[in-house]
Amino acid sequence: DKKQLLARDGNAIPAIGFGVWQSRGEELINAVRCALDSGYRLIDTAAIYGNESEVGTAIKTAGVRREDVFITTKLWNDRHDDVENAFSESLSKLGCDYIDLYLIHWPVSGQDLFVSAWNDMIRLRDSGRVKNIGVSNFSIEQIRRLEAETGVLPAVNQLQIHPLNQQRELVDWLRVQGVVTQAWSPLGHGSQHILTEPGILKIAARHHKTPAQIILRWLYENQIVALPKSSTPQRIKENIDIFDFSLSASELAAMRELDRGLNVGNDPTSFR
Ligand code: A2P
Repeated sequence: DKKQLLARDGNAIPAIGFGVWQSRGEELINAVRCALDSGYRLIDTAAIYGNESEVGTAIKTAGVRREDVFITTKLWNDRHDDVENAFSESLSKLGCDYIDLYLIHWPVSGQDLFVSAWNDMIRLRDSGRVKNIGVSNFSIEQIRRLEAETGVLPAVNQLQIHPLNQQRELVDWLRVQGVVTQAWSPLGHGSQHILTEPGILKIAARHHKTPAQIILRWLYENQIVALPKSSTPQRIKENIDIFDFSLSASELAAMRELDRGLNVGNDPTSFR
């Protein structure tokens, strides 16, 4: 199935997902329902987003079966020493009896604590309440550390990836290890620098697609699971309508050239 990727343990992960950071209330519930109607099968939330209950409500009332939706949530930075309770809270807010993917949101608490959090995540997975465990915003060194100390590699590393921030050394290394890369803020958080980049506009015109669709297709062709967020029905549909065209080798090469290491997000590791 071209709309899924296989994680290292053989579990399938949808090749594109729906992000819900900064989305709340009715707007969020409508957006998640619209996403599920439009064909998204992965919803990406986090404890810190404060919207797990609404995500749970939206999924329950959308007319899809629980087992057909891949739900991701994340452990916040102040709970690295309290994984079991933090996880139970997320599970009850989402109204589920299992989560498809649970991530350590940031590697902020110092190496000893994030390794111990990882050991607790492994126990959660072994209990069956989480199908896959992973990390977010981790470096090569930090993932090596997890593997050295526990013998378990994450299924996923979720990173800020978009055309102006490609993190290719890390992504290439993850691919070799069999760790799936997911992209947060794949559209550069809606940054006009990215969505009006002349090189991307040119490719978009050639394919009669929008710049957002070119970026999301480029991520898909690099086996990166993009998690675009939108509250607008038309954009929600647009962002998953990327399976009817493909980029040429020279277009992929042109996309590579756009990398500038541009960070469009907050970096909680700087608050340590
Ligand atoms: P909106 O929610 O009003 O549609 P990212 O996922 O990279 O963080 O980007 C999210 C931002 O990009 C949101 O502000 C969203 O606005 C905007 N956005 C989402 N999809 C598109 C699109 N197809 N074209 C332009 N902007 C988009």
